[in-house]
Amino acid sequence: MKKTVLLGVTGCVAAYKACEVVRGLQKAGLRVKVVMTKNATEFINPGQFRALTREPVAVGTFDDAPGDPIHHISLSKEADVVLIAPCTANVLGKIANGIADDLLTTTAMATTAPIVLAPAMNVNMYENEATQHNLMILAERGVRIVDADSGYLACGDVGKGRLAEPADIVKTVLDVLEVKRDMRGKRVVVTAGPTVEPIDAVRYISNPSSGKMGFALAEAAADRGADVVLVTGPVGLDDPEDVEVVRVKTAQEMFNAVDGVFADSDIAVFSAAVSDFRPEQVVDRKLKKGSDDDALTTIKLVENPDILATMGEKKHADQYVIGFAAETENVVENARKKLETKHADMIVGNPVGESKGFGADDNEAVLVTKDGESHLESMSKRALADRIFDAVLS
Ligand code: CTP
Repeated sequence: MKKTVLLGVTGCVAAYKACEVVRGLQKAGLRVKVVMTKNATEFINPGQFRALTREPVAVGTFDDAPGDPIHHISLSKEADVVLIAPCTANVLGKIANGIADDLLTTTAMATTAPIVLAPAMNVNMYENEATQHNLMILAERGVRIVDADSGYLACGDVGKGRLAEPADIVKTVLDVLEVKRDMRGKRVVVTAGPTVEPIDAVRYISNPSSGKMGFALAEAAADRGADVVLVTGPVGLDDPEDVEVVRVKTAQEMFNAVDGVFADSDIAVFSAAVSDFRPEQVVDRKLKKGSDDDALTTIKLVENPDILATMGEKKHADQYVIGFAAETENVVENARKKLETKHADMIVGNPVGESKGFGADDNEAVLVTKDGESHLESMSKRALADRIFDAVLS
């Protein structure tokens, strides 16, 4: 089951950055529930968080919570960690001094889960002795503080007090939750996305692979401490953090890029939807309708190299190679065939068709190895990526 982060948002200009924190936590496979102070709602609408988290957003202590008259207690028990980001000087002071006069501070007092605070305020407020004293008291009690950054502040002052980068806040939460860093020192190669095979100067053969699965794999491995090279065909996704990304177009380019790094890898995951064939001839101009060019009506195809099968064949004993098999039928049987023919250690079989597979955010899968198979329920591609690496490491 997903761990729950109870995210407290307080009344600060940086409240909008909490949206990015929500996204980062979700990407790491965590469930996020938001509690806002009344002042926070002056800066950002609860609807924003409701939409991002798909969870109710709590504000008032006495507001109706569905089926729950003692909301601060149920919230405090639900949390695996309480994160307050941004945390104003006022809320920081209240928590340090045991004041619980709204839903967020009563929840923070009631919880037995670890607490992480990311302060954000004006530099003079930050440097004020009271704030510094409060920070010290909290740190002594084991509260994790994600220290504020220095720089230009919303009020025009320059100095310390700016909310830490969302990525650093997320990292601290993962640390506190002991989200694994068990792939440290491992070198991982991942292929992702489609390949495109040109027909003429403006046309190509391709497929609708979104690259989401491969990017989730690369991100998961990097989050767990691995050194990751992601070789991807054309997709509309941003580079994952801490990942070396090589962008290619054709299957041959993908093959060359993988071939250059495979020998040094410990784990290679082939999730790209590689075009099996390419046009034998690429016409270097645009084919025109009405011409008597043979290439207009007939495309002769030649087979592309099978990247997984080639790497599978040359892998050494301590390398682990994983392939994917997106299948409309007989998923396990087809995956097992690919396990053998492509010399893989694991094939992740995916049922595709209708709304499943390409472009979706969730994935259903069966992990097929020579020892058996393990059926996984439908889950986010990021969660599936983690389950795949769990299986490899075990
Ligand atoms: N693969 C690859 N290079 C290719 C074709 C496929 O690396 N030229 C990899 C894919 O990344 C995936 C696995 O092989 O990990 C299976 O891909 P898939 O397209 O399902 O297999 P094919 O061998 O093309 O079989 P078919 O299309 O007949 O199902």
